[in-house]
Parts: sequence; C-alpha cells; structure tokens
Amino acid sequence: MAKEMIVNPYDVQGDVDYARLGKEFGIKPLDEKLLKRIEKIAGEVHPYLRRGIFFAHRDLEKFLDDYENGKKVFLYTGCGPSGPIHLGHYTIWSFTKWLQDKFGIELWFQFTDDEKFLYKNKTFEEIQGWTKENMLDVIAIGFDPKKTHFLVDTQHAGIMYPEAVKVSKKITFSTIKASFGFNDSNNIGSIFYTAMQTVPIFLPSVLSGEKQRCLIPLAVDQDPHFRISRDVVEKLGHYKPSIIHSKFMSPLTGVDSKGSSSNPDKMVLMTDNAKTIKKKINKHAFSGGKETVEEHREKGGDVNSDVSCQWLRYFEEDDEKLAEIYEKYSKGELLSGEIKAMLIEKLTKALGDHNKRRAGAEKLIDKFVYKN
Ligand code: TRP
Repeated sequence: MAKEMIVNPYDVQGDVDYARLGKEFGIKPLDEKLLKRIEKIAGEVHPYLRRGIFFAHRDLEKFLDDYENGKKVFLYTGCGPSGPIHLGHYTIWSFTKWLQDKFGIELWFQFTDDEKFLYKNKTFEEIQGWTKENMLDVIAIGFDPKKTHFLVDTQHAGIMYPEAVKVSKKITFSTIKASFGFNDSNNIGSIFYTAMQTVPIFLPSVLSGEKQRCLIPLAVDQDPHFRISRDVVEKLGHYKPSIIHSKFMSPLTGVDSKGSSSNPDKMVLMTDNAKTIKKKINKHAFSGGKETVEEHREKGGDVNSDVSCQWLRYFEEDDEKLAEIYEKYSKGELLSGEIKAMLIEKLTKALGDHNKRRAGAEKLIDKFVYKN
C-alpha cells in the first residue's frame, strides 16, 4: 500500500498528490488568467509557470492589483541554513530572481539560523558556518544587491524580536501542534519559531512606515507556516502575504518525493563539479527506459518516471526542443543514456556559471546583509 502523504515544513512523506494537497491546503491553482496577467507585466511567462512547476497560489490577484496600481510591493523568501544548497533551492531562487528582475522590486531574504539550530542535531557554530556558505550561493543566483536585503534571525533580533513577540501572542500551542505534528517533547524554541518566519511579511512595512504587500515564492511544504501567519498578521494591522507555490524537485532516485541535501547521492548540490555531476546522473538518475536496448527501441521509454526527462523541464528552456526530446524518448528513438548526457551538459553549464559567481560572492556579503 502507498505510504500516507504527509507534507509540512518538517516532514514530507509518501507520493505527493498535488491536486489533493491543493485542496487540503486550500490553495488555488495558477490559472491561464493569472499567467496572462504576469505576462503583461513581465513580457514573458517563465518556463516554470508554463510547465506547472509553480502550480498554486494564495491571493496572487491582490499582489498583482497593488503592483499595477503603482503601490509598493516586495518579494520575501528564505533559506534554512543546515547544509549545502541543492538544485531544488536553486530553481526556486532562480525563479525569484526572475520575478525581481521583471517586477523591479525589493527582495527580503531570511536566513533562519535559529530554526535550523532548534530542529537539527547541529551546534550553533555549525549552523553559523552554513549560514555563511548558503549566503554565497544566494548571492551567486545574481540578485540585485541594491534591492536585496538579508535578514539573519539571530543577528537581526533587535528589529525582529519585538515583532515576533506580537505575532507569538496570537498563536496557540495547539495550533502549532496540529500544523506540524508536534507533541509535548518538542523543544519550546521550535514552538515559537513560526513567529520568526512570519515577521518578514510585514517588517519592511514597519521599517518604512508604508504598508506594503509581499509575494512569497516557496516550495509547498512551507505553506503551513504561512497559513498560520496569514490570520495573525491581519489582526496586527498588516496585509496578508500573497504566496506562489512550487512543486518539489524530485531526488535522482525517483520522481515521487522531495529532494534533500541529507543524502548527497540523491541530489545534485550546487558545489558539485563537472565530474561529480556526471557520476551522480549516470549512476543514480532513475531511468524510465526498458531493460534492453532492443526492448527500448521497440516499446519506448516513460518520460514521466524518467528523472532525467523530468529534470530537463527545469533546464531546457525551449518548449519545442523539450517536446521533441520527450517524443523521441517515448518512441524509443532516444535512449536513457542520451537523455542523461543532455541533462549532464545543461547542469554542468548552469553549475559552472553559478560557481564562477559564487567565487566572487564573499566580498559582497556586506552589501546584502540588512543594516538598520
Ligand atoms: N523555513 C525555511 C527552510 O527551512 C526557510 C524560510 C524562511 C523560508 N522564510 C521563508 C522559505 C520564506 C520560503 C519562504 O528552508
């Protein structure tokens, strides 16, 4: 029997059924009308939107209304610094950069060092080390330093904590237990934490004195935090955040779950070099091909279960080319090894460029970290 589906920030299990998840979370599908509105502003529709990788939203209309009416709006996303950055993060942040470029707006980027210290079996110092490493990857995405502000929870406590207490007073322990599956043995810091992740939704409004709406691009497992936040921030006189949700990028081992950095063989890390990328894809990428070449030529491969085919949706921007690859693979004209080679080429290029930018990122950290 299939494993029960669990999706929350601290646990993802089972085969994720996105239609069912959308209903359970109460999030709306991204429809044609919204994509058209985005196209009108951006001049194009990002491939991740066309391909349903970003698939759902909350209140995106309100964010677009405010933007079109010339009101100040901003983007908010974040990173939990507990290990190396992988392609799943990279794809969400690349999309966030696209939004920043096309809309020309500010991005507030939260590093939740407190969260990862509280939830992971790592020392405070180790988490600080990952915070810095992860900052280099975020900078390497290419965000505009003039329009991007890093918040580090323990470093920006002076401006964040006064707001977090206000949030926390409006959230009960029973809400947190029900949302994240906690019990009485969870540490008390983890119970408070959602308040910290809520603060950047309205901190820019508090700091500037001008009420602003934000859009949060995220992977759908983060939604439960913000479902709580949305009720609370409104009671505190702020706008509810708009949200745009992405599906999980699958691990190399199969399309049904969520990639993570904890097993490096299952995911490509941003710091992997050309040799490692090649080895990982060739050795671990689940193939939708047939047992033998003869059988594959005759019956064709399955693009839906073939991880390399699925990952190409993130890295082959040309729709026609992708469609042609899928057709040829389905007919057995292309072999799994050939699909893997295409993916390896795309990834080697993307990660090579990323690491060139990452090498020059350290001297930029100071420009990105928010200063009061
Ligand atoms: N909790 C997130 C993580 O573990 C980090 C995060 C903080 C975040 N604020 C966010 C992610 C806003 C998406 C949007 O990775």
